[in-house]
Amino acid sequence: MSSTPAPQYARLLEEVRRHDRLYYVEAKPEISDAAYDRLYRELQDLEQAHPELADENSPTRKVGGSPLDSFRSVAHAVRMQSLNNTYSEEELEDFLGRVEKGLVGQASEFAIEPKIDGLAVSVRFENGRLVQGLTRGDGERGDDITENLKTIRNLPLSVRGLPKLIEFRGEVYLPEPAFAAMNRAREKKGEALFANPRNAAAGTLKLLDSREVAKRPLAVIFYGLGEVAGFSVETQNDLHRQILQWGLPGHAWFRHVRGTSGVLDAIRELNRDRLNFPFATDGAVIKVDRFDQQKVLGQTGKAPRWAIAYKYAPEQAETRLHSVTFQVGRTGVITPVAELEPVLLSGSTVARATLHNFEEIARKDIRVGDLVTVEKAGEVIPAVISVNLKKRPSDSRPISVPSHCPVCGGPLSKEEVFLRCRSRDCVGQLKRRLQHFAHRGAMDIEGMGEVMVGQLVDAGLIQHLDQIYGLTDEQLAGLERMGEKSAANLLEGIAASKSRPLWRLIFGLGIPQVGAVLSESLARNFRSLSKLSSATVSDLTQINDVGPKVAEEIVSFFQEPSTRRLLVSLEKAGLNFTARKEELAERGGVFSGKKFVLTGTLDQPREEFIRRIQSLGGSVVGSVSAKTDYVLAGEEAGSKLSQARSLGVPILSQKEFEKLVGQDTGE
Ligand code: IVH
Repeated sequence: MSSTPAPQYARLLEEVRRHDRLYYVEAKPEISDAAYDRLYRELQDLEQAHPELADENSPTRKVGGSPLDSFRSVAHAVRMQSLNNTYSEEELEDFLGRVEKGLVGQASEFAIEPKIDGLAVSVRFENGRLVQGLTRGDGERGDDITENLKTIRNLPLSVRGLPKLIEFRGEVYLPEPAFAAMNRAREKKGEALFANPRNAAAGTLKLLDSREVAKRPLAVIFYGLGEVAGFSVETQNDLHRQILQWGLPGHAWFRHVRGTSGVLDAIRELNRDRLNFPFATDGAVIKVDRFDQQKVLGQTGKAPRWAIAYKYAPEQAETRLHSVTFQVGRTGVITPVAELEPVLLSGSTVARATLHNFEEIARKDIRVGDLVTVEKAGEVIPAVISVNLKKRPSDSRPISVPSHCPVCGGPLSKEEVFLRCRSRDCVGQLKRRLQHFAHRGAMDIEGMGEVMVGQLVDAGLIQHLDQIYGLTDEQLAGLERMGEKSAANLLEGIAASKSRPLWRLIFGLGIPQVGAVLSESLARNFRSLSKLSSATVSDLTQINDVGPKVAEEIVSFFQEPSTRRLLVSLEKAGLNFTARKEELAERGGVFSGKKFVLTGTLDQPREEFIRRIQSLGGSVVGSVSAKTDYVLAGEEAGSKLSQARSLGVPILSQKEFEKLVGQDTGE
């Protein structure tokens, strides 16, 4: 009996869309991640078996398409406006006064909503299908970023019940935890850090390769309309509700208020609540609620008279810049670091802040001795954002741009806005590379932390990574504060590392762009280091997680003569170069078969940890027993923590967890 798969496909498509909505828009998932993955795969399989059925707006299409040469510039059907800003309650009251006057005494109600620090976009749906996405551009014309927008997880590509034509205006942003994770990963790879989530989101939306965009967890929230046909709504507060009702991403936090005191109360309330939002909020937007009143008020220049942004003061502090030091990363990038008079900022004392790069220093005209403003938002690393020029001391000195590597004296080259030490023998880079190779998330060499690495390199015992494996008792005995016992332990740790699984070695090599998770998948797919080292770009891009850029990095890494010499020497030293059976298991991973219990307050949503543990082969259970492998304990952990202690179950702090999965090399 042959059954037609069309109805089954339609049902499945609807089901996956519903769960996407529950998860991404309403944050109320009904099924487990594993159950969702099964449904999703079923949908994928069915689409593969019956390409004629596949809906071009299926959720499986959120993977990006072919790269573009450039973005097309497209005229906005309805101009995209900007907002005037105010920073004080007095200015806000002036605005409210102007509104009242403009409406000749008619009482007015307001909608108060968060101002997301992201990028404005306009998204057009025709007959319920997403057909176009534009950036704001100059307000008249924007760039066509449809392919990039289509990769955004919380943006459905097709929506039931929408009018014939509707354009949504909203903000694209990178959620805070994703931003922090992305910067951690970039730091580890020696890549430049994004100064804030907005820059990270902007940089991402400008990528011409939507497959790269798909890898970054952008999100969008709609708060306004552009061109519309076949639909009308009377107020901004109704629009918020309607957006959510359609199952589209809208603001969950908005207030409907009257009068000056209503507005002021709401923006104060928002200022407290915004710390719990997954996005960075830099203010409140106050909008006249009724659209007919908005029309009466009209606009001036580029901004409407019916709305205003009230900006909250960011977490900043002023302090003295004493000196500038330079950090050399694993790949040679030189980061200038401000050494500051310690100052309290967002609840912690800050004595160092990044100056990002030398172009930023020149642009902001920062000098040693200056009073500078440092800012920290959420998990963002503290940064120097400006200089108080009025209070510049007469003896302030310009920050000298190093002409040579501050650690090894080698030549520097300029790459985009960064300076990079090009020397192959740079001791600064070497120390970072050794630290990375030896840390717990990679080769896990006991006894070889930052201090030991420094001693070994400074004593001249290690000039190349492979010399770790040639270290002898006598050499170690010559080191300061090195007892016999610790020397023996270190050598034992080094010997033990020779038989680590292949993925750890791949990760430890520090190939640019290759983290722990990708290392595992490389180990699984190529099974030996010699096969991986001779893989071509096209071999590599066959693997799910590898895009063309990463593939090129891997190929060029293995083509380097120094890499080749290193591999020959490591093989001679007896390191394991092949994947063992357990590594080849499909759901293998650092946590393969491990049971976790989560407790206490973690600095990212629990779902995030659950996902990560699962993606590394582990599982998360509800209660602690002797069979639990790890308890991951956040702040204020309670009874589960004491149970773990009494049962002798290993307890991980969040930091230790990150080390274990290799997201944090402790550099
Ligand atoms: S309304 C006609 N509402 O802030 C009004 N803008 O500084 C146009 N923004 O370009 C904008 N959250 O990118 C509006 N709830 C919100 C917003 C918001 C963030 C951005 C938007 C705008 C910029 C103006």
